[in-house]
Amino acid sequence: MKDVVDPLPEDQVFEQIGEDGFRRLVAAFYRQIPDDDILGPMYPAEDLAGAEQRLGDFLIYRFGGPPRYVEQRGHPRLRLRHARFAIDQRARDRWLGLMDRAFRQAQLPPQAEATLRQFFEHVATFLMNRP
Ligand code: HEM
Repeated sequence: MKDVVDPLPEDQVFEQIGEDGFRRLVAAFYRQIPDDDILGPMYPAEDLAGAEQRLGDFLIYRFGGPPRYVEQRGHPRLRLRHARFAIDQRARDRWLGLMDRAFRQAQLPPQAEATLRQFFEHVATFLMNRP
């Protein structure tokens, strides 16, 4: 089935939504973390701002913006960096559920949103590490 809008090429997302678009999306995502019964306990309560910064920097780098993430954190190695968190189907689905709400709040242009949604679904599935 065809998506409602054609996704934007990945390297054009930063051009379209800029630093501000990514920061709004990631802020809307992390606002929900403290109250989430599955994901809340996994994230560092004392450093949620840092976690928000890391995800934002990663996405900006991955979608055509400045490579601050790689300069500060090195190669992403996302499977490895997530290995210590128990990511089963429920955790994956919840992560995508919170991101879905974040998209509705952030109001990004639909083409950029389509590209990001595809990417998140793909990576969240790839990161599952528990049955
Ligand atoms: C599938 C469900 C997921 C769970 C339960 C999860 C959980 C976590 C947790 C607990 C952290 C540590 C927070 C921190 O201190 O940085 C983290 C970091 C991170 N996550 Fe996820 N994550 C998920 C999916 C994703 C997806 C889909 C992406 C890609 C867009 C992603 C990208 C990242 C990045 C870039 C970091 C920072 C890594 C670092 O530099 O240390 N995560 N994740």
